[in-house]
Amino acid sequence: MYEVLSNDTLAPNLHRMVVRAPRIAPARKAGQFVIVRCEAGDERIPLTIGDADPAAGTITLFIQAIGASTKKIVAVPPGGFLRDVAGPLGMATEIERWGRVACIGGGVGTAVLFPMARALAEEGNEVTTIIGGRAEPYIILADELAAFSKEVRVTTEDGSLGRKGFVTAELKEMLDDPERAPQAVFAVGPVPMMRAVAEMTRPYGVKTIVSLNPIMIDGTGMCGGCRVVVDGEARFACVDGPEFDGHAVDFASLTDRLTMYRDHEEQCRLAV
Ligand code: NAD
Ligand code: FES
Repeated sequence: MYEVLSNDTLAPNLHRMVVRAPRIAPARKAGQFVIVRCEAGDERIPLTIGDADPAAGTITLFIQAIGASTKKIVAVPPGGFLRDVAGPLGMATEIERWGRVACIGGGVGTAVLFPMARALAEEGNEVTTIIGGRAEPYIILADELAAFSKEVRVTTEDGSLGRKGFVTAELKEMLDDPERAPQAVFAVGPVPMMRAVAEMTRPYGVKTIVSLNPIMIDGTGMCGGCRVVVDGEARFACVDGPEFDGHAVDFASLTDRLTMYRDHEEQCRLAV
């Protein structure tokens, strides 16, 4: 059993939970995730490890409460327990010294981006962070990212904070400016955003890493649920990823697979 130490609301439907997990906290690396079950028999939910405190034996999880299972997880109060937290799983982010990097977070994806961006900065990269959301309340972790970023650019679709529009508008300006052009781009967010980022950087030949979030079941490479097509070959996001070369990902098949259980998910949501 894993004790929930704190549970606060970061943005509409987005919770930040600190969980006691003394064996995972010292072992996890940026980019890795855990699979959480609220109670025995529940759906298994993959969640990126947003942060960890090895001395305190705690990990931080960011949970978007959109379906029946994620709503059940975020309803656990401080002092309550999660039945299973399995991990750390997945490959860690490949941290290299690229020079100048752009780290792009779309909505909730910003929480997944955070440990990657910090690890890149700690390696000596000059990190420009671009974060976008529908409106101001959906912009998260701006101060935390500013602590190690050279600059944080914000976009909102309604113009309530930062530049009005999508994150890609800021990226395009960077790519076109020889003084700011990145040597590598890391993008995490909704699939259409990661696809748009990869298409934008392709003609510039800038290495682009995306973090994929297909449906996962076991998280250990056994079930095939998280299959994605990369460079024309089937790869498992849970053991080969979740990060992949954005220029090699088949985003169309990923989109199809993500919508496979939409009706079932809707039935479960209505039943809660
Ligand atoms: P959202 O739909 O509100 O989009 C957030 C921002 O992403 C937008 O404001 C915009 O700046 C950018 N964006 C979206 N579509 C774009 C496009 N076509 N072109 C360019 N930029 C675009 O995001 P949300 O509701 O917070 O995110 C929810 C989605 O993110 C879910 O689908 C969820 O599964 C996914 N998600 C992905 C990961 C991951 O690891 N890749 C992690 C968490 C959540
Ligand atoms: Fe089962 Fe990846 S979640 S193979």
